[in-house]
Amino acid sequence: MTLHIGAEPGQIAETVLMPGDPLRAKWATERFLSDAECVNQVRGMLGYTGTWQGHRVTIHASGMGMASMSIYAHELIRDYGVRQLIRVGSTGAMQNHVNMRDIVLAQTCTTISSPSQSLFKEVQFAPCADFGLLRAAHDAACALGVPVHVGNIYSSDIFYDERPDLNAIMTRHGILAVEMEAAELYSVAARFGARALAVMTVSDHLLKNEALDTRAREQSFSQMFEIALRAAFA
Ligand code: ADE
Repeated sequence: MTLHIGAEPGQIAETVLMPGDPLRAKWATERFLSDAECVNQVRGMLGYTGTWQGHRVTIHASGMGMASMSIYAHELIRDYGVRQLIRVGSTGAMQNHVNMRDIVLAQTCTTISSPSQSLFKEVQFAPCADFGLLRAAHDAACALGVPVHVGNIYSSDIFYDERPDLNAIMTRHGILAVEMEAAELYSVAARFGARALAVMTVSDHLLKNEALDTRAREQSFSQMFEIALRAAFA
C-alpha cells in the first residue's frame, strides 16, 4: 500500500490505463476487462485489475490535472513496478482540421507549468511519448478507421483559462489540442524509465465552440479504450 493507493503488492498489472474520471475507470472495466477486481478505492480514485484478451491490465483513475496525475503515476511506477501507462481521456481541439470525436495522440506536450517544473527549473524539458506505443496506437486507430492526429498538445493547469491570447499562441504554433495531464505523465515516466502515451478523444472544440453530448462521448470513449488496449499489447 502507498499513501494514495490501497492495492497490495502484485495487485496492479505492469500496464495501466489511466482515465481522469474514477467512474470512467469502472465503466471501462465493466466493458473491456474479464475477471476484474477493485484494487483501489482510496479517496474514491478507483482502480481495477483484470484481463483483456488474456493480457493482465489495470485501469486506474488519475484524477484531474497534473498535480493529481503526478501522485498516481509516481506511486504506480515506483511502488508497484508499472512499466507502461496510457492516459485515456478527453481533449479540446485547437486546430480547424481536428474534428469532434477524432483521436489525438500526444507525441509531445507543451506546458507553462507542471509539478516537474520544480525539478527542471531552468531546463525546458520536452515530455515525449514512447515511440513504440505511439506507433502501435496510430496503427490501431487506422485499423479501426478512426480519424487520428499525432503531434504536439498543450497540457494546461487551468480549465477556466482567462488568457485567450495563450490559446491563440498555441493554435498558431500547430498545437493540436488542450488537456490537463499528459505532460506530467510523460515527465514522471521518463524519470523512472517507464513507457507512456496519451490517447485522447476530442470532446470539445475551442475554435468552433462545440461539445459532445453524453451519447457521442460514450461511443468515442469506447474507441479510445480499444485503441489504447491494442497499443499496449501490440
Ligand atoms: N479536456 C477536454 N477539453 C478540455 C479543455 N477545453 N481544456 C482543458 N482540458 C480539456
